[in-house]
Amino acid sequence: MKTAKLTDSEYLIKTGKILRTKQMTKQEKYFEIALAGGENLNHEPGQFVMVSVPGVGEAPISVSSSPTKKGSFELVIRKAGKLTGVLHNLEASDTVGIRGPFGKGFPTQILEGNDLIFVAGGLGIVPLRSLINFVIDNRRDFGEVHILLGCKTPQDMLFGDEVEGWSKRTDVNFSCTVDRADPDWKGNIGLITSLIPGVTLDPARTFGVVVGPPIMYKFVIIELLKKNIPERQILVSLERNMKCGVGKCGHCQIQNYYCCKDGPVFTYEQIKYKKEAI
Ligand code: FES
Repeated sequence: MKTAKLTDSEYLIKTGKILRTKQMTKQEKYFEIALAGGENLNHEPGQFVMVSVPGVGEAPISVSSSPTKKGSFELVIRKAGKLTGVLHNLEASDTVGIRGPFGKGFPTQILEGNDLIFVAGGLGIVPLRSLINFVIDNRRDFGEVHILLGCKTPQDMLFGDEVEGWSKRTDVNFSCTVDRADPDWKGNIGLITSLIPGVTLDPARTFGVVVGPPIMYKFVIIELLKKNIPERQILVSLERNMKCGVGKCGHCQIQNYYCCKDGPVFTYEQIKYKKEAI
């Protein structure tokens, strides 16, 4: 197994002060964090940080805010074990350890000048929000923008106010669907794949950006390929079984790729033959 050599900065744990928290759903909690000394995180959309609590552990967490937001960054942490349970008990003015940012994010310079179709299912909105807000904050650098969101129920929609803001923009084509509606829901009902055939796009200049639960990728990619978007222009973010986050432990390995170092963002062309990837 290949192992990567860590640089000093990759080992360095910085102090992150929690500025604000918000319980988003029963399982998901939002954190706004500032690094000590006012240092910017300097991440790219799609990258992640290692978040630690001394004596408890460390876990990779996607950065949800755009790098255009300066002075602090945002995470959404799902309660799924001991460390995330401890993190959920933290509030404003508590501190956590932060290493990173790590991984290959979305290639924003390649995306510039092109049309984009974002497809986010469930928690996929958390890392994709970083890129969506980056694009919105630099709107003139990009062509047509389509945002397609899907989640189980209206209550599961994260960042509801922000999503509503995207839906009202005249320079963004927005669609949203839920698997199960409630009586107040006015939008689409059905799988996120059902939104793709209705999108009009120019495949030669369109990049598809897909983030969501593992089951979603295959069917969304089939629909994007039906639209004739080239395989190299379909980007996915795979965050699988990460532990060390820096290419040392092998936990995130998909054949010859390490999700943490070679990804988490890959093109479909890179991973299409790796059956365990999608
Ligand atoms: S090699 Fe350890 S998480 Fe990727």
